[in-house]
Amino acid sequence: MMRKLTTSLAILAAVIVIATSAPAKDKSLYDRLGGKKAITAVVDEFVGRVAADNRINKYFTAAASDPKRLASFKAKLVDQICQASGGPCKYKGKDMKTAHAGMGISSADFDALVEDLVGALDKFKVGATEKQQLLGALGPMKADIVTK
Ligand code: HEM
Repeated sequence: MMRKLTTSLAILAAVIVIATSAPAKDKSLYDRLGGKKAITAVVDEFVGRVAADNRINKYFTAAASDPKRLASFKAKLVDQICQASGGPCKYKGKDMKTAHAGMGISSADFDALVEDLVGALDKFKVGATEKQQLLGALGPMKADIVTK
């Protein structure tokens, strides 16, 4: 009798745990991307691809030639992606309009950079949904970044 009750209670507890835990689809984009460590790996790969991309690497000569500046740039990108995907970080860099003012960035430049980001996301096998959601969060920044 006691045994049966204990078993019933255990089953009930398990049902409650399963019913109240958030289903996978309710996890934040940040968690689904794999958290800060995974975002840092994507940003490293992404910046490497941008530096090797002859269509747009002229913009990044100053950052690429100074390790401290490059590290700070990467850290800002990580914080920005972390924050935009619902993570615990706080982006403390310039707003996108100020950061890219006077650079004369074109729509083609922007698309090339997005292509490099997609390449980095694909390399780490980020899922189609996550990729689409991240690009969806960054897309609206285009209006502030492209000035040419
Ligand atoms: C969604 C697209 C983009 C995002 C999210 C983004 C994000 C950022 C961030 C967070 C910074 C650092 C701002 C700070 O220092 O406070 C930055 C700087 C910069 N961005 Fe972008 N950016 C984007 C597109 C572009 C494009 C298309 C170009 C040029 C092809 C570009 C070129 C630069 C350059 C040259 C800097 C300064 C780097 C340095 O010398 O420190 N960005 N961007």
